[in-house]
Amino acid sequence: MTSIPYTPMAGGFGARVDFDPARVPTADEVQQIAKIFRQHLFVYFTQADISMQQLAEFVVAFGKPDDPSGRLASAVSEYAGIRVVENAEKGKFGPRSNSELDWHSDRFYNPVAAGLLQSLVVPAEGGDTSLANMVQALAELPPALRQAIEGRRIKQDAVFDAQGRPGMRPGGVAVQDVANTPGIATDIIQVYPYTGLPYLYLGNRLNAHVEGLTLSASEALLDQLYAHVNQPRFHYRHHWKPLELLLYDNRRCMHRRETFDINADRKLIAAVVDTSDVL
Ligand SMILES: [Fe+2]
Repeated sequence: MTSIPYTPMAGGFGARVDFDPARVPTADEVQQIAKIFRQHLFVYFTQADISMQQLAEFVVAFGKPDDPSGRLASAVSEYAGIRVVENAEKGKFGPRSNSELDWHSDRFYNPVAAGLLQSLVVPAEGGDTSLANMVQALAELPPALRQAIEGRRIKQDAVFDAQGRPGMRPGGVAVQDVANTPGIATDIIQVYPYTGLPYLYLGNRLNAHVEGLTLSASEALLDQLYAHVNQPRFHYRHHWKPLELLLYDNRRCMHRRETFDINADRKLIAAVVDTSDVL
């Protein structure tokens, strides 16, 4: 058994892993990559020149692929849970989209274990994927703010996706009153079982409500939490080169896309590990 080499990133989380994802990892290699992921929150592979079929096989090595029923607005490929994310007008992903997306976790009301992004065509500037380290964000939360969230839950919107587009979430209803509409509650402080370390889980900002608080108190608390997370010391910003593959923890990290030139093309392949016994 040989060890897979890896290089931790300078920013305090993340690691570049020297493994070619064109090959389905063995059970031992899955364990090694998972161990790096657990410790570093995300891993990425360079020179990921792989087909959708190979990506699908890579996903399955780590867990269950996405159940597409709860997902919205992306072109679905013939492979379960694998989506094309592109801004080019090729009838696959609707209007060109180049704007910044705010911090979120995918399927935030019941987050998938991990997200994967493979870059095919990337702009020379911008279009970066940023990740926020929510373990560190919780550890450095000011004591009064920590006190304010202890034991609390956020009711996650079950209607809109992270871009504010209405969709058909399971059990979703139209939002008129954020404080009183049904949603799916998630604990604000969660614990990652493989390390025992807690992390801040916010899910998504739009239509979120901290249970038990008035709307104004909830909005004020959420604004403070997002302002805290927004501090660059918690962030890693990945500037894409073509044919890279990023595998990120969708619970211990929030992610967002940075803006880019509307005339630049950007095409990524997205997949998720919905549930996993190793991540
Ligand atoms: Fe996302």
